[in-house]
Amino acid sequence: MSKKIESHLSENRVFKPSREFSKKARISSMAQYRRMYRESIEKPASFWAREAKELHWQKRWKKVLDWNPPFAKWFTGARLNVAENCVDRHLTNGRKNKAAIIWEGEPGDQRVLTYHQLHQEVCRFANVLEANGVKAKDRVLIYMPMVPEAAIAMLACARIGAVHSVVFGGFSAESIVDRLEDSGATAVVTADGGYRRGKIVELKKSVDEALQKYKGVKRCIVYQRTGEKINMRRGRDVWWHKEAEKVSPSHTPKGFDSEHPLFILYTSGSTGKPKGILHSSGGYLVGSYTSCKYIFDMQDDDVYWCTADVGWITGHSYIVFGPLANGVTQVMYEGAPNHPDFGRFWNIIEKYGVTTFYTAPTAIRAFIKAGDKFPDRHDLSSLRLLGTVGEPINPEAWMWYYEKIGSKRCPIVDTWWQTETGSIMISPLPGCTPTKPGTATLPFFGVDAAILDEEGNECGPDEGGRLVIRKPWPSMLRTIYGDRSRYRKTYWNDFKGIYTAGDGARTDKDGNFWIVGRLDDVLNVSGHRLGTAEVESALVSHPDVAEAAVVGRPHEIKGQGVVAFVTLKEGVRAAKTTEKTLKGHVAKAIGAIARPDEIHLTPALPKTRSGKIMRRILKELVATGGVTGNITTLEDFSVVSNLQKNLKK
Ligand code: WTA
Repeated sequence: MSKKIESHLSENRVFKPSREFSKKARISSMAQYRRMYRESIEKPASFWAREAKELHWQKRWKKVLDWNPPFAKWFTGARLNVAENCVDRHLTNGRKNKAAIIWEGEPGDQRVLTYHQLHQEVCRFANVLEANGVKAKDRVLIYMPMVPEAAIAMLACARIGAVHSVVFGGFSAESIVDRLEDSGATAVVTADGGYRRGKIVELKKSVDEALQKYKGVKRCIVYQRTGEKINMRRGRDVWWHKEAEKVSPSHTPKGFDSEHPLFILYTSGSTGKPKGILHSSGGYLVGSYTSCKYIFDMQDDDVYWCTADVGWITGHSYIVFGPLANGVTQVMYEGAPNHPDFGRFWNIIEKYGVTTFYTAPTAIRAFIKAGDKFPDRHDLSSLRLLGTVGEPINPEAWMWYYEKIGSKRCPIVDTWWQTETGSIMISPLPGCTPTKPGTATLPFFGVDAAILDEEGNECGPDEGGRLVIRKPWPSMLRTIYGDRSRYRKTYWNDFKGIYTAGDGARTDKDGNFWIVGRLDDVLNVSGHRLGTAEVESALVSHPDVAEAAVVGRPHEIKGQGVVAFVTLKEGVRAAKTTEKTLKGHVAKAIGAIARPDEIHLTPALPKTRSGKIMRRILKELVATGGVTGNITTLEDFSVVSNLQKNLKK
């Protein structure tokens, strides 16, 4: 029986950047990419030193890398201030009055902050934190809506050397408690509320609930966003705007050691307890800065927009640290993509002349489902570059994004990376890499990516295996906060000195990396391993299908059977033959082995608030008919009860 992960999808369409795009791009030919890539792997110290020199260091490093597997130190002996690099640096390089953040609230309110204004706000809030007793290395939990103050709070923490831990505003009070306890935070920065789909999310109320259980917080600083009446506990809670009035808008940025902890960001692992991924200062900043510069090909007149929330790693690296270190102008949007309707994103792109747009495949599929009439109403001609992140993008979504949003003019960078990697690891460079729908293509500079089989041998083209990184990289996680042994066990246990990403992947004959999905989402059907993402992609390639999730179910003869949950496109009616048609469609796209045993049509799939499909819930539903695990991260609870009813029928 084969132990290899088999990959059955083949995609042969190739899209090269236009000559016009390449000509102006930072990396304009594959020869240039290869030359730089080779240098980054063979001489990482000189490669990264050159990139790092573009930033501001209060004291130079002694050594670029100190590698004591699995613990890395980058730019040892150096001192820097991350916030100074993201803000102050631009006051003297010609960008002082350039817009840093163009913000739009969900109700339609707008604000623009220049680098100069951002500097004043960050300084003020750094002073507020210090006046409220926050010191270097203290942990500060940030639970904010998508307002500029979320970024300001993060930068102010960085400025004084405090370690922030941002918790996504969609998480519950329970999740806040877990994260407060694990990080030992002593301060919280939050807001009265924020706007989401026309409703107010009562953030302070969740914090109040959490602080009833966790007693370690001495100060809670509250930004006023909605003006709703909230509870302020005397002695603990203070208003952001009142504190800011008391302090000066200048603040001297002290230099911190390159390995000074910058932030903790929690992410789910295979156990119930979230892992606190710890990132440090110098290497992380160099990684997010460099990847932003080359992968988004940042130019001074760009208007960049990443639609992530600051509560996720994408928001850290590609809203706050990377883009601001590059001095770009960016759009930040508070609310939901479908408020008041599915035209909101396209409206924002048109209004602000967005040039670079970075979003998630799940959002793209939602847009496809909503229909072309929304993008058709807007002028999207300012766009020059598109990006995706978070999950494998199915070729049909890729093609729609390419044709409908990018008018076949904009390269797409499908970026593979993780909370742990800190910055993008595998991605096209938009000015040179030939792209194929569905592959993140080639490793970024300094990334020694490979696919290994169970024994640690490198797989050949089209042989599936484990995605690993064989050399340390600047923005890698330093540890799991407070749990070095879990750090070792989770990432460094499979092969000596090699980082295991936990994803299954293959390369094609051109060396492109095709990410199949988390290894725990890989099924074994009759001894064949099959990526659930591939079956999903096949389903979504059917013109009637908007979205699909595939899980395994124990099967007497095959080991595992394939169960698919499918949402049809708006306006498509299920016929008697729909299930049969879709099964046949999958068999045709991949092979009979992948033919789903069951197809359940459903108007919606269970998703986390960040839009990831919760396959764990589907797996449990098909295996037991119920759900017992933690489902507090679900976006919409009714989806699960409806599925449960349907499965019983
Ligand atoms: C998946 C998000 C395929 C992958 C930045 C990874 C992707 C996990 C891609 C990390 C992509 C992310 N193609 N899969 N372009 N990007 N993933 O920590 O399974 O939220 O391990 O970081 O998302 O998710 P995380």
